[in-house]
Amino acid sequence: MERIIMDVDTGHDDAVALVLAAGSPQIQIEGIVAVAGNQVRERTLENTLNVCDYLDIEAPVFAGLDRPIVRRQITAGNIHGKTGLDGPVFPPRTKQVHPGNGVRFIIDTVLANPHEITLVPTGPLTDIAMAIRMEPAVADLVKEIVFMGGSTGEGNVTYSAEFNIFADPEAAQIVCTSGAPLVMMGLDVTLQVMLTDERLDTYREFPKKAASMFCASMDNYMASCRRHGHDYPAMHDPCCIAYLLDRDMFSFERRELQIELQGALTYGRTVVGPHLDEGGALIAKKTKPEQFWNMLDTAFRNLP
Ligand code: RIB
Ligand code: CA
Repeated sequence: MERIIMDVDTGHDDAVALVLAAGSPQIQIEGIVAVAGNQVRERTLENTLNVCDYLDIEAPVFAGLDRPIVRRQITAGNIHGKTGLDGPVFPPRTKQVHPGNGVRFIIDTVLANPHEITLVPTGPLTDIAMAIRMEPAVADLVKEIVFMGGSTGEGNVTYSAEFNIFADPEAAQIVCTSGAPLVMMGLDVTLQVMLTDERLDTYREFPKKAASMFCASMDNYMASCRRHGHDYPAMHDPCCIAYLLDRDMFSFERRELQIELQGALTYGRTVVGPHLDEGGALIAKKTKPEQFWNMLDTAFRNLP
């Protein structure tokens, strides 16, 4: 059983990560923290509560931080829309935000379950960095931090930087230099998992409300990606969950990993250094997209 805490900026692909996690019995979601990223935290929190309520996800949902640690806040409404999850229309929800502090929840859960909890951030690393700064033991006692972010090639916000890192580079540097066991699911690998029109059409036939939410969400996400010159939307965030379901579907390089914080043109770049035998970060390089889609099909069959 993989016991995880998801730290999300629910947007369209974060919602797919929630579907894959909730529909995979090998995964136990201990809690979900909504951080500012794709949209302001009020929106990412609302989207996370709506998705969890709609999919009957019982895990508690907490509010994370509402802004990056140092830089001015940026969001990705150009891709994810004003709501941060344009497309699906949810019924009135009953699920309420947990009154606790999301960063405190991360710290307390990791420390109470040494080497048992995997953190799965799929937005900016703001909450994870704050948890490590408030309680450095988190870096020693977390099982793994499997994050969606970065690229060893081009970025997707600037030519140098991917959105999750660019939205809070200082937080990413804190995490990358913390000594925690890191797995980077960057654009190198997530851009290999693209949703085609043909594949999306197959989900329109699924008689499940999770699939209907997926289709309403992906119709919007696909149109938005095409307005920005991309042929198909990539399944960035759910790749983190796929890793937990089958590590062998990915190939990796273990490299030193740091974040560029000074460059006028390279601010927020994930900079890989020498190959390492231990430490650093596992950088995902290749995957098997068909295995991803098989996992998602299974998740839909397990969900309402
Ligand atoms: O660059 C892709 C990442 O930025 C994904 O996590 C997406 O949800 C956005 O947050
Ligand atoms: Ca995200």
